[in-house]
Amino acid sequence: MSLRLGDTVPNFQADTTEGHLDFYEYLGESWGVLFSHPADYTPVCTTELGKTALLKEEFAKRNVKVLAISVDPLEKHEGWKKDINETQSCHVDFPLIADENKTVANLYDMIHPNSSESFTVRSLFIIGPDKKLKLSITYPASTGRNFHEVLRVIDSLQLTARYSVATPANWQQGDDVIVVPAISTEDAIKKFEKGVNVIKPYLRYTPQPNL
Ligand code: BEZ
Repeated sequence: MSLRLGDTVPNFQADTTEGHLDFYEYLGESWGVLFSHPADYTPVCTTELGKTALLKEEFAKRNVKVLAISVDPLEKHEGWKKDINETQSCHVDFPLIADENKTVANLYDMIHPNSSESFTVRSLFIIGPDKKLKLSITYPASTGRNFHEVLRVIDSLQLTARYSVATPANWQQGDDVIVVPAISTEDAIKKFEKGVNVIKPYLRYTPQPNL
């Protein structure tokens, strides 16, 4: 069965380019991004892993550990990693999971047989420090993901976990945020010292509280 938001994600052990690991132990208290790609030595995947490596500091700033996975063997990952580093001018140092037996792919429902019988689709899971699923997206093989969007969502998840706010469409760091419906306007005015802009009783904005 597929994972749903709020579910505790399953643990696993796997061989990776950074050694054998236990997923939960590897994550520790950090947030996690686990993302699958269809196969090694493919062009879109090469750019995705390169972009992720180049965003290393952005993920680290947000206390996020990243892991990629495909159903190719470790030796193939190692050779491909050199190509990624060379062609994308990066240094991939996050684990690439070798999931030849499809153990993790099946556990996380990453194979969608009507898309491909044997390869993983582009699944991406954001996992909180509580090991619960906070977001999942699925892209087809032909479309590379936007890792700036992944960072934007992490910013929203981390902000909304801490404050009684939600982030509006196309929100970016620094933009005003929305007061959640569960808070009355009277309470919101007391709670958000930077002010509350009431557009409608159900649509209330406040400046981003953690800036
Ligand atoms: C790619 O990663 O480039 C790719 C993989 C499978 C199908 C199409 C593109």
